[in-house]
Amino acid sequence: MNKKVMDALNEQIKAELHSAYIYLAMSAHFSEKNLDGFAQWMKLQAGEEVGHAMRLYAHVLETGGHIVLKAVDAPPSKFGSPKEIFETALAHEKKITKMIHDLFDLAREEDDYATELMLQWFVTEQVEEEDSAGRAVEQLEMAGDSTAALLMLDQRFGQRQGD
Ligand SMILES: [Fe+2]
Ligand SMILES: [Fe+2]
Repeated sequence: MNKKVMDALNEQIKAELHSAYIYLAMSAHFSEKNLDGFAQWMKLQAGEEVGHAMRLYAHVLETGGHIVLKAVDAPPSKFGSPKEIFETALAHEKKITKMIHDLFDLAREEDDYATELMLQWFVTEQVEEEDSAGRAVEQLEMAGDSTAALLMLDQRFGQRQGD
């Protein structure tokens, strides 16, 4: 497979695993704060991120590429309010979207049709990721300082099902 594309895909595998690490750290924080619904949502999200990494991993191997796993940076261990946490998640997903778009452009430039097609799934997935994090931010904004509203949202987020 194309070397430039392969290097960028290996970099993206690392970014997805880093996302998983960030969401797992957020999940732990919510558990420690007894917000079990948000914790459950974040734990599922971490699992989804591992799934993203594995999709890219499978594609690299299927197209004759070489996997080079990189060191994953530590996530933060201190967090602010639930709203700030979801704002961080949203900003992070925007960064990931940009990476996916850059990867898509690169696959195009290099005439790597198989990678371009594979990445279409990620383009769609990023729309969902930004939408769900963005909605969480807005709902937490509406909840304001109300503990009752926060606990209601925690309940609701806890209803998220695994894929
Ligand atoms: Fe992802
Ligand atoms: Fe998703």
